[in-house]
Parts: sequence; structure tokens; C-alpha cells
Amino acid sequence: MILIVGATGYLGNATARRLLVAGEAVRAMTRTAAKAQDLQELGAEVVVGDLRDEASLRRACDGVDRVFATAHALMGRGQESSKYVDDLGHKRLIDAARAVRRQPV
Ligand SMILES: NC(=O)c1ccc[n+]([C@@H]2O[C@H](COP(=O)([O-])OP(=O)(O)OC[C@H]3O[C@@H](n4cnc5c(N)ncnc54)[C@H](OP(=O)(O)O)[C@@H]3O)[C@@H](O)[C@H]2O)c1
Repeated sequence: MILIVGATGYLGNATARRLLVAGEAVRAMTRTAAKAQDLQELGAEVVVGDLRDEASLRRACDGVDRVFATAHALMGRGQESSKYVDDLGHKRLIDAARAVRRQPV
């Protein structure tokens, strides 16, 4: 299972589609499930998550063996700024992915 973070974005959506066509199991992360409906219809599992929400990242990473991170907030302001999403958010994502890897199979 491959987790695509930013699956509703330009890069993430195109990548998710290519992976689904190739027969890969894809979990598509978005803050708004309705935005990933197209991927769900193509067979993706949709998970609601936010790079600023540690618990949601642990849920998103649970059971995946690869993570493809394409989300960004380059134009965001305040709590949605790059500092909280791109910098701290991706650190949280790496921690969540590592925590899942450490779990015994
Ligand atoms: N597109 C280009 O031409 C281009 C060129 C050079 C480099 N890049 C780089 O490629 C990467 C992807 O760019 P893109 O154009 O594909 O992005 P995009 O179309 O603007 O999509 C941004 C994605 O980020 C997600 N996102 C935003 N805030 C989030 C948060 N707090 N938590 C989780 N997800 C969040 C959005 O998901 P939801 O709204 O669904 O939650 C959305 O899927 C970026 O690093 C960008 O700098 C892109």
C-alpha cells in the first residue's frame, strides 16, 4: 500500500492515477474527502488527514509500506503557512511513518 500525501494536488493526483492503473494499492490523503472522490472511484482508499494533525498522520500511515509526499502550503498564511505545513508537517509525517515501521509485523 502506497500513501499519497497531497493526492488531490496536481502531482499527487497524477501519480495516484498512474499507480492505480498499474495495479498498485493506493491510499489517498486529503483534508476534504470529497476532493478525492475521483480517486476513490478508481479504487483508491481515501483517508482524511492533515500535516498539522499528528494523530491523523498516524492513521494515514498505518499499514502502508511507502509514502509519497507531495502536499505543500507555499501560499498559506498563519496556521496554514509553510512553516506549519511544509516544515513541521513533513517532520510529523516522517515520524508517523517511522513509528509504523517500528511496529512488529
Ligand atoms: N505543479 C507544478 O508545476 C510544480 C512545479 C514545481 C514543483 N512543484 C512542487 O511539487 C509539489 C506538489 O505541487 P502541486 O502543484 O502538485 O500541489 P497542488 O496542486 O497545489 O496541491 C497541493 C496539495 O497539498 C495538500 N495540502 C495542503 N495543505 C495541506 C495540509 N495542511 N495537510 C495535508 N495536505 C495539504 C492539498 O490537499 P487537500 O487540499 O486535498 O487537503 C493538495 O493536495 C510541491 O512541493 C510543489 O512545490 C510543483
